[in-house]
Amino acid sequence: MSHHRVVVEAVRFAYPDGTWALDGVSFELGHGESVAVIGANGAGKSTLLLHLNGILTADSGRIVVGDLPVAHGTLTHLRRTVGTVFQDPDDQLFMPTVFDDVAFGPLNLGMPEADCRARVRDCLERVGAWHLRDRPPHRLSGGEKRRVAVAAVLAMSPDILLLDEPSTGLDPRGRRQVIELLRGFAHTKLVVTHDLDLVLELCPRTIVLHEGRVAADGPSRTLLGDAALLERCGLEVPVAARPCPRCGFAPGLAEG
Ligand SMILES: Nc1ncnc2c1ncn2[C@@H]1O[C@H](COP(=O)(O)OP(=O)(O)OP(=O)(O)O)[C@@H](O)[C@H]1O
Ligand SMILES: [Mg+2]
Repeated sequence: MSHHRVVVEAVRFAYPDGTWALDGVSFELGHGESVAVIGANGAGKSTLLLHLNGILTADSGRIVVGDLPVAHGTLTHLRRTVGTVFQDPDDQLFMPTVFDDVAFGPLNLGMPEADCRARVRDCLERVGAWHLRDRPPHRLSGGEKRRVAVAAVLAMSPDILLLDEPSTGLDPRGRRQVIELLRGFAHTKLVVTHDLDLVLELCPRTIVLHEGRVAADGPSRTLLGDAALLERCGLEVPVAARPCPRCGFAPGLAEG
């Protein structure tokens, strides 16, 4: 299905204060691909994501999601197609209760109320947050908020999923639940993360951003074992990709 392809071509963007955040970024995502975007703080990862859902507009270059270029006239379509879990869950959760927050999107898309209730329950159960359904989102812990934010986006059944640090602040079980949940999401996903062990589990391909440019784009197992590349980009080889000092075996780089 070509309509879930994403094309990013020579995108440049500076914030109003003159900070250059993206300096000629190009790549393509095929339908169903699961791709990680990694890079040091300030590398431009969140800025890139905000271009793919139309919140920010490139100064130059081109972005195509599905068959449509990202532009003012296509934003409504884009918001139905692309689901974003933001870096800060407070940017996303705004209803009086967790239940209402997860129901908001599907109801807005015209889903009948009974179906919507079932959808909300299913999504909250899948992130282990059904028990939080009557709580106000702004009073939850950081990890609880992130679980709800993931549920709210999945409830919209997007064709393309953008996630900005989905595992940050989650306890080990929460992290595992989110990894399994994302593994079960068959469509295209782009995952911005500092959790490089998560990358090895979830994303066969990785894009490394460095100072607003693509420093590398290739198989995660190759790039995450490349200490020189990671060092150059302000990163470190993840624990699972470090070879055992005795036998040289790196479990995270082994064929799945
Ligand atoms: N609202 C803003 N106004 C001005 N500059 C900004 C703004 N937001 C981000 N920047 C700058 O743009 C660059 C890219 O920031 P971005 O938030 O995309 O980085 P990031 O890779 O997501 O980092 P992190 O890992 O810390 O989340 C940085 O130099 C940052 O200081
Ligand atoms: Mg960021």
